[in-house]
Amino acid sequence: MAQSDPGPGASTGTAPAGTDERPPVQAVILVGGKGTRLRPLTLSAPKPMLPTAGVPFLTHLLSRIAAAGITDVVLGTSFKAEVFEQHFGDGSDLGVSLRYVTETEPLGTGGAIRNVLSELTAENILVFNGDVLGGTDVRAVLDTHTASGAEVTLHLVRVGDPRAFGCVPTDDDGRVTDFLEKTQDPPTDQINAGCYVFKRSVIAEIPPDRPVSVEREVFPALLAQGRHVHAFVDSAYWRDMGTPEDFVHGSADLVRGIAPSPALTGVRGESLVHDGAGVAPGALLIGGTVVGRGAEIGARARLDGAVVFDGAVIEAGAVVERSIIGFGARIGPRALVRDGVIGDGADIGARCELLRGARVWPGVVIPDGGVRFSTDV
Ligand code: GTP
Repeated sequence: MAQSDPGPGASTGTAPAGTDERPPVQAVILVGGKGTRLRPLTLSAPKPMLPTAGVPFLTHLLSRIAAAGITDVVLGTSFKAEVFEQHFGDGSDLGVSLRYVTETEPLGTGGAIRNVLSELTAENILVFNGDVLGGTDVRAVLDTHTASGAEVTLHLVRVGDPRAFGCVPTDDDGRVTDFLEKTQDPPTDQINAGCYVFKRSVIAEIPPDRPVSVEREVFPALLAQGRHVHAFVDSAYWRDMGTPEDFVHGSADLVRGIAPSPALTGVRGESLVHDGAGVAPGALLIGGTVVGRGAEIGARARLDGAVVFDGAVIEAGAVVERSIIGFGARIGPRALVRDGVIGDGADIGARCELLRGARVWPGVVIPDGGVRFSTDV
C-alpha cells in the first residue's frame, strides 16, 4: 500500500523542530473493545470512557502520551465510537491532536491497527491498548526500539504472578523468543503490557478488512518468520483495567497516588470527593474511595475502596467495599455491597447484602432485605 501524503499535524510527533532530533512518531490507541468483563457498566459507556478518579479513563493515557511529547494520536474506535469524539473533540484540551478511525465491524487488536494505516505517516508507531493504567517511560520504550533496530518492540512488564497472563520470554540481547498463552507454569515473569512500537511497514503487512488478533496472530507469525521483535522490560506501575477487581484497584491507586497520572494534579489521599457531592457527617471514606459529581453519601455510611459514579446515592449506614456503584444507582440504608458491581440506576433495598462478584444490571430494583448472604437476625 502506498504511503499517504502527510496531512496536517501528521508529522508533529515531537517537540518543535530544532529542539529535538528524534524522528517523528505517532500514537495509536485501541479503544474499540466491548469491555464484556466490565458489564454491566460497559452497556452504557465504553470501558475507556468509564470515570476513573473523576475523569474518563482514557484521559490518564492521553495525558501520559502528551507528557512524553507525542502529540499526533489516532483513536481506533468501534463499540460506541461516537462518544469518544463527543468528549475529547480534537484533543486540544489535553495538548494532543486527535483523529478517529471507526471500524464498521470490530476488527480485533491487529485488525484495528491495520485499519488506521492511512492515517499513519511516521516510520515508527506507538500502539497502546486503551485500558491499561501505567507508569512506564514511553520515551524509553521508543528509544529501545530505535536503538535495537527492531521491526516491532513490545513493552513487557514484570509481575508477581504471571499465571493469569500471556508471557513473553526474551534472550540475553533482549529479543523476544516466544509469545506464550496463559500457563500454570510460566517460564518468565515478563508479560505483554499492551504497548508496542511498530515500524509502519509491519502494520502494512497485517491483512486488511478482517478480524486479526495482534497477540494470537501477528506476533506469533513474526516470530515464526524469524523477524526482529525486541522487548522493553520494566517493573513500573501497570494494571489492565479490564475486570471489576482491577478497575476498583486501579481507581483506588490513582486516588491514593500509588498509580501515576499527569491528569491528576491535586493532593492524593484516602478519598476523592468531586464537586457537588454531599457527604453527611459521620460517613467514613477510606481506601482510595472516589465519590462522583452530585453523589450523596449518608450519615455513618462506610466506603472502603468504593468507586461511586456521578449521581449515585449511598444511604445512611450502608457499607460499600471494593465495589463500583453506577451512575444514579441507590444503595439503601444499612445495605452491604462487597466486591460487586451495581449497574446504572439500580436500586438496592435496605439491609440487602451483595457479595463476591455480584453484578446488578441497570435499573434493577431489589426490595428491602431482598438478597442476603446471612440471616436477618
Ligand atoms: P473484554 O470484552 O472484557 O475482554 O474487553 P475488550 O473488548 O476491551 O478486550 P481487550 O481487553 O482484550 O482489549 C484490549 C484493548 O484493545 C482494549 O483497549 C480494547 O478497547 C481494544 N480492542 C479490543 N478489540 C478491539 C477491536 O475489535 N477494535 C478496536 N478498535 N479496539 C479493540
